[in-house]
Amino acid sequence: MKIDGKAFRTIWPGDDGASVVIIDQTKLPHRFETVTIGTVEAAAHAILTMQVRGAPLIGATAAYGLWLALRRDASDEALAAAIQFLAKQRPTAVNLRWALEEMRQAVAPLAPEVRAAGAFAKASAIADDDVETCRLIGVNGVPLIRALAERKAGKPVNILTHCNAGWLACVDWGTATSPIYQAHDAGIPVHVWVDETRPRNQGAALTAFELGRHGVPHTIIVDNAGGHLMQHGEVDLCIVGTDRVAANGDVANKIGTYLKALAAHDTGVPFYVALPYSTIDWTVASGRDIPIEERSADEVLRMYGQHTDGSIAAFSIAASGSPAANPAFDVTPARLVTGFITERGVASADRKGLLSLYPERGESAA
Ligand code: MRU
Repeated sequence: MKIDGKAFRTIWPGDDGASVVIIDQTKLPHRFETVTIGTVEAAAHAILTMQVRGAPLIGATAAYGLWLALRRDASDEALAAAIQFLAKQRPTAVNLRWALEEMRQAVAPLAPEVRAAGAFAKASAIADDDVETCRLIGVNGVPLIRALAERKAGKPVNILTHCNAGWLACVDWGTATSPIYQAHDAGIPVHVWVDETRPRNQGAALTAFELGRHGVPHTIIVDNAGGHLMQHGEVDLCIVGTDRVAANGDVANKIGTYLKALAAHDTGVPFYVALPYSTIDWTVASGRDIPIEERSADEVLRMYGQHTDGSIAAFSIAASGSPAANPAFDVTPARLVTGFITERGVASADRKGLLSLYPERGESAA
């Protein structure tokens, strides 16, 4: 997608042939800065500190990180150690493990002297595949928006999204945002309610940034406003992303997604989850088995923002001495999800729906 007229992906190979470049998402929306990553440690640090975040982008970064590890040491031992090291940086998004497993299968059979080259080719293929997969999610999601637009006689379709499942969370296009961008580009009037998404504000900082740069009308709301807007007919459709879908259709996504799904269910607003095949964890039977990341209490107790003089600062917002809990994801039961939007089409959010899209998984699904 474009920033100020220039097309970007979220990760790309460096000109020196020995690094990858990322957009530092901890600096957005106030500063657009890139970081050059030349070691597996730097790739792991980018994932851990959320310079890169969002399930598909975490996977692509880990894939390039493994390439960087193999440039230094391509032995069997180094390969296994680097996979283990990268996999432990964040627990919930299954795309991290998925990408590393894809990489392992591609490079383990190769002789050590050609492993690094093979790893670069595979990491690049994973990144390119994510772009095409997300584009197709958009193609498959647009008809849902178009159908609502036809009923609204020219008035914008109001779409609520949570967190950032946009192009910044992927390599390009995004998952939840891909149908939105493609509908907007096709001339369908859309307006997006952007949940701010406390505590890290990925909605206010990232989703609003990218929608704004693409010219998509949107409004930032506090996380608690969604239910009220749904009750008052101000939301036609919810589309969110996901970090892991269990084989029964339960959906892990950014904390607060469950509450939006409950409100949507109560008010009859369709609630769709957009996802690439790499986000389905066929090995877990239900959402109960999905590990939930617990992050620092500091993210709850303090907020980062920009002063009027342009400086970035952290502010304490809580009573001093009070502890805080910070579960970063929740699980929305499949029964609250209207459907899945994937690169293969739209299906019901349950085991049957998933297997109708991915019949080849029938044997292996938990
Ligand atoms: O903690 P984050 O910012 O990595 O969480 C991101 C989300 O929860 C996204 O909604 C999810 O990864 C889907 S990204 C297409």
